[in-house]
Amino acid sequence: MANRLVKDILLEALKINSDEAYKQDIYYLAQKAFSLSLEELILKENEIVDDAIFIQYLKRYLDKEPLYYILGKAPFYKREFTVNNNVLIPRNETEELVYLTLNKIKEKKIINPRIIDVGSGSGCISITLDKEIKDSFVTGVDISLEALKVAKTNNEELKANVNFYQSDCLKNVVKNKEKYDVLVSNPPYIDKEQFVEESVLKYEPHLALFAENKGLAIYEKIFLDLDLVLNENGFAFFEISPDLKDGLIKLINKILPTYKYDFIFDINNFLRFLYLEK
Ligand SMILES: C[S@@+](CC[C@H](N)C(=O)[O-])C[C@H]1O[C@@H](n2cnc3c(N)ncnc32)[C@H](O)[C@@H]1O
Repeated sequence: MANRLVKDILLEALKINSDEAYKQDIYYLAQKAFSLSLEELILKENEIVDDAIFIQYLKRYLDKEPLYYILGKAPFYKREFTVNNNVLIPRNETEELVYLTLNKIKEKKIINPRIIDVGSGSGCISITLDKEIKDSFVTGVDISLEALKVAKTNNEELKANVNFYQSDCLKNVVKNKEKYDVLVSNPPYIDKEQFVEESVLKYEPHLALFAENKGLAIYEKIFLDLDLVLNENGFAFFEISPDLKDGLIKLINKILPTYKYDFIFDINNFLRFLYLEK
Protein backbone atom coordinates (compact mmCIF):
# COMPACT_ATOMS: atom_id res chain seq x y z
CA MET A 1 0.00 0.00 0.00
CA ALA A 2 1.42 3.33 -1.05
CA ASN A 3 0.82 6.78 -2.41
CA ARG A 4 1.33 6.55 -6.17
CA LEU A 5 0.44 8.25 -9.43
CA VAL A 6 -3.00 7.27 -10.75
CA LYS A 7 -1.49 6.34 -14.13
CA ASP A 8 1.09 4.01 -12.54
CA ILE A 9 -1.56 2.20 -10.51
CA LEU A 10 -3.69 1.70 -13.62
CA LEU A 11 -0.74 0.68 -15.80
CA GLU A 12 0.32 -2.00 -13.34
CA ALA A 13 -3.21 -3.43 -13.11
CA LEU A 14 -3.69 -3.38 -16.88
CA LYS A 15 -0.47 -5.38 -17.44
CA ILE A 16 -2.22 -8.45 -15.94
CA ASN A 17 -4.71 -8.90 -18.81
CA SER A 18 -5.19 -7.31 -22.23
CA ASP A 19 -8.87 -8.18 -22.49
CA GLU A 20 -11.23 -5.22 -23.21
CA ALA A 21 -13.82 -6.32 -20.61
CA TYR A 22 -11.04 -6.58 -18.01
CA LYS A 23 -9.86 -3.06 -18.87
CA GLN A 24 -13.37 -1.66 -18.46
CA ASP A 25 -13.76 -3.34 -15.06
CA ILE A 26 -10.39 -2.00 -13.89
CA TYR A 27 -11.39 1.53 -14.82
CA TYR A 28 -14.73 1.04 -13.04
CA LEU A 29 -13.05 -0.27 -9.88
CA ALA A 30 -10.56 2.62 -9.97
CA GLN A 31 -13.37 5.17 -10.29
CA LYS A 32 -15.05 3.73 -7.22
CA ALA A 33 -11.82 3.29 -5.23
CA PHE A 34 -10.67 6.88 -5.84
CA SER A 35 -14.19 8.41 -5.93
CA LEU A 36 -13.59 9.88 -9.37
CA SER A 37 -15.69 9.93 -12.54
CA LEU A 38 -14.19 8.35 -15.67
CA GLU A 39 -13.29 11.81 -17.04
CA GLU A 40 -11.63 12.79 -13.74
CA LEU A 41 -9.69 9.54 -13.68
CA ILE A 42 -8.19 10.37 -17.06
CA LEU A 43 -7.63 14.06 -16.31
CA LYS A 44 -6.03 13.33 -12.94
CA GLU A 45 -3.64 10.57 -14.11
CA ASN A 46 -0.65 12.55 -12.81
CA GLU A 47 -2.09 13.01 -9.32
CA ILE A 48 -0.85 11.03 -6.34
CA VAL A 49 -3.43 8.89 -4.53
CA ASP A 50 -3.48 6.21 -1.83
CA ASP A 51 -3.77 2.86 -3.66
CA ALA A 52 -4.95 0.81 -0.60
CA ILE A 53 -8.66 0.44 -1.50
CA PHE A 54 -7.92 -0.19 -5.17
CA ILE A 55 -5.39 -2.92 -4.32
CA GLN A 56 -7.98 -4.65 -2.12
CA TYR A 57 -10.61 -4.44 -4.90
CA LEU A 58 -8.14 -5.79 -7.47
CA LYS A 59 -7.18 -8.74 -5.29
CA ARG A 60 -10.85 -9.73 -4.87
CA TYR A 61 -11.50 -9.20 -8.59
CA LEU A 62 -8.59 -11.43 -9.58
CA ASP A 63 -10.03 -14.01 -7.22
CA LYS A 64 -13.10 -13.97 -9.55
CA GLU A 65 -15.41 -12.24 -7.07
CA PRO A 66 -18.17 -10.45 -9.04
CA LEU A 67 -17.60 -6.72 -9.42
CA TYR A 68 -20.86 -5.74 -7.75
CA TYR A 69 -20.16 -7.80 -4.63
CA ILE A 70 -16.77 -6.09 -4.36
CA LEU A 71 -18.42 -2.68 -4.57
CA GLY A 72 -21.49 -3.69 -2.52
CA LYS A 73 -23.83 -1.95 -4.98
CA ALA A 74 -25.48 -3.04 -8.24
CA PRO A 75 -27.49 -0.99 -10.74
CA PHE A 76 -31.07 -2.01 -11.52
CA TYR A 77 -33.71 -0.03 -13.40
CA LYS A 78 -32.42 3.52 -12.71
CA ARG A 79 -31.39 2.82 -9.10
CA GLU A 80 -28.47 1.31 -7.16
CA PHE A 81 -29.17 -1.61 -4.84
CA THR A 82 -27.05 -2.76 -1.91
CA VAL A 83 -25.91 -6.33 -2.52
CA ASN A 84 -23.84 -8.94 -0.72
CA ASN A 85 -23.33 -12.63 -1.24
CA ASN A 86 -26.65 -13.46 0.45
CA VAL A 87 -28.50 -12.16 -2.59
CA LEU A 88 -28.34 -12.71 -6.33
CA ILE A 89 -26.82 -9.81 -8.25
CA PRO A 90 -29.75 -8.26 -10.18
CA ARG A 91 -29.59 -9.17 -13.88
CA ASN A 92 -30.54 -7.20 -17.02
CA GLU A 93 -33.22 -9.76 -17.99
CA THR A 94 -34.98 -9.06 -14.71
CA GLU A 95 -35.25 -5.39 -15.64
CA GLU A 96 -37.26 -6.60 -18.62
CA LEU A 97 -39.50 -8.61 -16.29
CA VAL A 98 -40.24 -5.39 -14.38
CA TYR A 99 -40.88 -3.54 -17.62
CA LEU A 100 -43.33 -6.21 -18.85
CA THR A 101 -45.14 -6.19 -15.50
CA LEU A 102 -45.48 -2.40 -15.51
CA ASN A 103 -46.87 -2.45 -19.05
CA LYS A 104 -49.37 -5.18 -18.30
CA ILE A 105 -50.65 -3.32 -15.22
CA LYS A 106 -51.19 -0.26 -17.43
CA GLU A 107 -52.79 -2.30 -20.22
CA LYS A 108 -55.22 -3.93 -17.79
CA LYS A 109 -55.87 -0.56 -16.14
CA ILE A 110 -55.41 -1.99 -12.65
CA ILE A 111 -55.58 0.89 -10.22
CA ASN A 112 -53.90 0.71 -6.79
CA PRO A 113 -52.46 -2.71 -7.71
CA ARG A 114 -51.60 -5.19 -5.00
CA ILE A 115 -48.38 -6.90 -6.09
CA ILE A 116 -46.40 -9.78 -4.62
CA ASP A 117 -42.79 -10.66 -5.52
CA VAL A 118 -41.91 -14.27 -4.65
CA GLY A 119 -38.20 -14.87 -3.98
CA SER A 120 -37.52 -11.16 -3.55
CA GLY A 121 -33.73 -11.43 -2.96
CA SER A 122 -32.23 -7.92 -2.87
CA GLY A 123 -35.73 -6.49 -3.37
CA CYS A 124 -34.83 -5.16 -6.82
CA ILE A 125 -38.16 -6.19 -8.43
CA SER A 126 -40.53 -5.30 -5.60
CA ILE A 127 -38.83 -2.01 -4.68
CA THR A 128 -38.72 -0.90 -8.32
CA LEU A 129 -42.42 -1.69 -8.79
CA ASP A 130 -43.25 0.13 -5.57
CA LYS A 131 -41.26 3.20 -6.70
CA GLU A 132 -42.60 3.16 -10.26
CA ILE A 133 -46.32 2.73 -9.48
CA LYS A 134 -48.01 5.36 -7.46
CA ASP A 135 -50.52 4.01 -4.93
CA SER A 136 -49.42 0.40 -5.28
CA PHE A 137 -49.20 -2.00 -2.36
CA VAL A 138 -46.20 -4.28 -2.75
CA THR A 139 -45.10 -7.33 -0.74
CA GLY A 140 -41.83 -9.24 -1.09
CA VAL A 141 -41.35 -12.74 0.31
CA ASP A 142 -38.23 -14.86 0.47
CA ILE A 143 -37.27 -18.01 2.34
CA SER A 144 -33.86 -16.57 3.23
CA LEU A 145 -33.68 -14.33 6.30
CA GLU A 146 -30.26 -13.07 5.15
CA ALA A 147 -31.72 -12.00 1.79
CA LEU A 148 -34.66 -10.31 3.56
CA LYS A 149 -32.17 -8.29 5.62
CA VAL A 150 -30.61 -6.94 2.41
CA ALA A 151 -34.06 -6.21 0.91
CA LYS A 152 -35.06 -4.27 4.03
CA THR A 153 -31.83 -2.24 3.82
CA ASN A 154 -32.65 -1.35 0.21
CA ASN A 155 -36.23 -0.53 1.18
CA GLU A 156 -34.89 2.04 3.65
CA GLU A 157 -32.06 3.36 1.50
CA LEU A 158 -34.32 3.86 -1.52
CA LYS A 159 -37.20 5.19 0.59
CA ALA A 160 -39.58 2.51 -0.68
CA ASN A 161 -42.55 1.07 1.11
CA VAL A 162 -42.46 -2.66 0.42
CA ASN A 163 -43.72 -5.08 3.04
CA PHE A 164 -41.03 -7.84 3.27
CA TYR A 165 -41.48 -11.05 5.22
CA GLN A 166 -40.33 -14.66 5.27
CA SER A 167 -42.29 -17.31 3.43
CA ASP A 168 -41.54 -20.60 1.73
CA CYS A 169 -43.05 -19.65 -1.65
CA LEU A 170 -46.68 -18.66 -0.91
CA LYS A 171 -47.09 -20.69 2.29
CA ASN A 172 -47.39 -17.76 4.73
CA VAL A 173 -49.22 -15.62 2.18
CA VAL A 174 -51.98 -18.23 2.01
CA LYS A 175 -51.90 -18.58 5.79
CA ASN A 176 -52.43 -14.79 6.09
CA LYS A 177 -55.30 -15.01 3.53
CA GLU A 178 -53.67 -12.23 1.47
CA LYS A 179 -54.86 -11.59 -2.09
CA TYR A 180 -52.99 -9.89 -4.95
CA ASP A 181 -53.69 -8.59 -8.44
CA VAL A 182 -50.18 -9.32 -9.66
CA LEU A 183 -47.60 -11.95 -8.80
CA VAL A 184 -44.09 -11.58 -10.13
CA SER A 185 -41.22 -13.95 -9.57
CA ASN A 186 -37.67 -14.66 -10.62
CA PRO A 187 -37.30 -17.95 -8.75
CA PRO A 188 -34.23 -20.19 -8.62
CA TYR A 189 -34.46 -22.25 -11.83
CA ILE A 190 -31.09 -23.79 -12.66
CA ASP A 191 -30.94 -27.56 -12.90
CA LYS A 192 -28.21 -28.86 -10.56
CA GLU A 193 -26.60 -30.72 -13.48
CA GLN A 194 -26.25 -27.58 -15.59
CA PHE A 195 -22.93 -25.79 -16.18
CA VAL A 196 -22.58 -22.55 -14.19
CA GLU A 197 -19.72 -20.01 -14.47
CA GLU A 198 -17.06 -20.29 -11.76
CA SER A 199 -17.58 -16.80 -10.28
CA VAL A 200 -21.35 -17.39 -10.02
CA LEU A 201 -20.93 -20.82 -8.45
CA LYS A 202 -18.28 -19.65 -6.00
CA TYR A 203 -19.90 -16.42 -4.82
CA GLU A 204 -23.65 -16.25 -5.48
CA PRO A 205 -26.07 -17.98 -3.04
CA HIS A 206 -26.97 -21.48 -4.25
CA LEU A 207 -30.45 -21.05 -2.76
CA ALA A 208 -31.02 -18.29 -5.33
CA LEU A 209 -29.73 -20.35 -8.26
CA PHE A 210 -30.65 -24.01 -8.12
CA ALA A 211 -33.97 -25.83 -7.94
CA GLU A 212 -34.92 -29.51 -7.78
CA ASN A 213 -36.90 -31.34 -10.48
CA LYS A 214 -34.64 -30.06 -13.31
CA GLY A 215 -35.21 -26.45 -12.25
CA LEU A 216 -39.03 -26.66 -12.05
CA ALA A 217 -39.58 -27.22 -8.31
CA ILE A 218 -40.19 -23.63 -7.20
CA TYR A 219 -42.54 -22.86 -10.12
CA GLU A 220 -44.58 -25.92 -9.19
CA LYS A 221 -44.76 -24.85 -5.56
CA ILE A 222 -45.93 -21.34 -6.54
CA PHE A 223 -48.45 -22.69 -9.10
CA LEU A 224 -50.02 -24.91 -6.44
CA ASP A 225 -51.05 -21.86 -4.35
CA LEU A 226 -51.39 -19.28 -7.11
CA ASP A 227 -55.16 -19.50 -7.53
CA LEU A 228 -55.71 -18.91 -3.81
CA VAL A 229 -53.60 -15.75 -3.91
CA LEU A 230 -54.57 -14.11 -7.24
CA ASN A 231 -57.63 -11.86 -7.45
CA GLU A 232 -60.07 -12.34 -10.35
CA ASN A 233 -58.54 -10.81 -13.51
CA GLY A 234 -55.13 -11.12 -11.84
CA PHE A 235 -51.94 -12.18 -13.62
CA ALA A 236 -48.45 -13.52 -12.95
CA PHE A 237 -45.11 -12.96 -14.65
CA PHE A 238 -42.16 -15.30 -14.17
CA GLU A 239 -38.58 -15.24 -15.37
CA ILE A 240 -37.67 -18.63 -16.84
CA SER A 241 -34.89 -20.50 -18.57
CA PRO A 242 -35.69 -21.30 -22.26
CA ASP A 243 -35.28 -25.06 -21.73
CA LEU A 244 -38.03 -25.14 -19.10
CA LYS A 245 -40.83 -24.37 -21.57
CA ASP A 246 -42.15 -27.94 -22.03
CA GLY A 247 -41.95 -28.75 -18.33
CA LEU A 248 -43.80 -25.53 -17.47
CA ILE A 249 -46.58 -26.24 -19.99
CA LYS A 250 -47.07 -29.67 -18.40
CA LEU A 251 -47.29 -28.08 -14.94
CA ILE A 252 -49.76 -25.41 -16.11
CA ASN A 253 -51.99 -28.02 -17.79
CA LYS A 254 -51.96 -30.09 -14.60
CA ILE A 255 -52.26 -27.41 -11.91
CA LEU A 256 -53.81 -24.35 -13.58
CA PRO A 257 -55.73 -25.78 -16.57
CA THR A 258 -58.10 -22.79 -16.86
CA TYR A 259 -55.30 -20.22 -16.98
CA LYS A 260 -54.25 -18.48 -20.18
CA TYR A 261 -50.50 -18.59 -20.75
CA ASP A 262 -47.92 -17.07 -23.03
CA PHE A 263 -44.13 -17.24 -23.39
CA ILE A 264 -42.19 -14.08 -24.18
CA PHE A 265 -38.69 -13.57 -25.63
CA ASP A 266 -36.12 -11.21 -24.13
CA ILE A 267 -34.16 -8.62 -26.14
CA ASN A 268 -31.48 -11.23 -26.84
CA ASN A 269 -34.11 -13.50 -28.37
CA PHE A 270 -34.13 -16.07 -25.57
CA LEU A 271 -37.45 -17.45 -24.37
CA ARG A 272 -37.24 -15.77 -20.99
CA PHE A 273 -40.66 -14.97 -19.49
CA LEU A 274 -43.87 -16.79 -18.71
CA TYR A 275 -47.15 -14.88 -18.48
CA LEU A 276 -50.13 -16.44 -16.71
CA GLU A 277 -53.61 -14.95 -16.55
CA LYS A 278 -56.43 -16.03 -14.27
C1 LIG B 1 -33.05 -15.98 -8.62
S1 LIG B 1 -33.13 -15.23 -7.02
C2 LIG B 1 -34.04 -13.76 -7.43
C3 LIG B 1 -33.78 -12.61 -6.51
C4 LIG B 1 -34.39 -11.30 -7.00
N1 LIG B 1 -35.83 -11.39 -7.08
C5 LIG B 1 -33.82 -10.92 -8.35
O1 LIG B 1 -34.55 -11.05 -9.34
O2 LIG B 1 -32.65 -10.52 -8.41
C6 LIG B 1 -34.29 -16.28 -6.23
C7 LIG B 1 -34.67 -15.93 -4.79
O3 LIG B 1 -35.61 -16.91 -4.35
C8 LIG B 1 -35.36 -17.23 -2.99
N2 LIG B 1 -35.93 -18.56 -2.73
C9 LIG B 1 -35.38 -19.79 -2.98
N3 LIG B 1 -36.23 -20.76 -2.58
C10 LIG B 1 -37.34 -20.14 -2.10
C11 LIG B 1 -38.57 -20.60 -1.55
N4 LIG B 1 -38.83 -21.91 -1.41
N5 LIG B 1 -39.48 -19.68 -1.13
C12 LIG B 1 -39.23 -18.35 -1.25
N6 LIG B 1 -38.07 -17.85 -1.77
C13 LIG B 1 -37.15 -18.75 -2.19
C14 LIG B 1 -33.86 -17.15 -2.86
O4 LIG B 1 -33.48 -16.95 -1.52
C15 LIG B 1 -33.54 -15.97 -3.77
O5 LIG B 1 -33.51 -14.76 -3.05
